[in-house]
Amino acid sequence: MRAMQPDVLSEIVDGRIWASERPVWFSGVRLRARTCVIRLDDGRLLVHSPAPPSDAWLKQVAAIGEVSWLVVPNCFHHLGTPAAAAAFPAAKILAPRSAAAKNPVLRIDVDLHDSTFTKGVPEMALFPLEGVPFLDETLLYHRPTQTLFGADVVLRADENDHWTWRFAARITGCSKRWSVPPDVRKKVTDKAAASRSLRALQGLAIQRLMVAHGNVIDDQPLARLTEAWREVGVE
Ligand SMILES: [Fe+2]
Repeated sequence: MRAMQPDVLSEIVDGRIWASERPVWFSGVRLRARTCVIRLDDGRLLVHSPAPPSDAWLKQVAAIGEVSWLVVPNCFHHLGTPAAAAAFPAAKILAPRSAAAKNPVLRIDVDLHDSTFTKGVPEMALFPLEGVPFLDETLLYHRPTQTLFGADVVLRADENDHWTWRFAARITGCSKRWSVPPDVRKKVTDKAAASRSLRALQGLAIQRLMVAHGNVIDDQPLARLTEAWREVGVE
């Protein structure tokens, strides 16, 4: 995905994965924030890290299929979910309880730390990032496409980003290199637990990693992820 076209869904994996990006302001910089749409084995759709949906975006999703799940991947990426839930009233919301603590209007149908979700959607596996309760992120692995989905586990700025973020990224070491987000680096409370969480990914065949802020990582995604975390002492 190159320059951002808000509300436009791009097909990442034929018939299986689509993504859109929108601008979001965070801590004085303008990031790109990705929402992913994944077709599950039952034909219905899972929306990962939902944006507040526009009419144009809803029309594109409606042409693909019926949404059955909305996923809040950590305790920060909850802002668009109540509006998405209103647009898809039949969809269940999978989210960590920590997100509800920050957003009282967020409804949670299934706890992201519960095994209920994968019993109903066995082609997905959940990989919680332990030891970083500040983020409380859980990665989703989609076996049919060998794709790992995250939100803030790593990020990267490049020439497609707004100048505010490119400038801040040069100072914080996120310019054209995958990094643990600056605000997360000092919030790793249990490095051994975080390390075990990353090691749990080692056995997976991962063709691509899709996170919220940065391009799709399809060149050695697991190496990029582990290198970034090694820099903050998580080996
Ligand atoms: Fe984020």
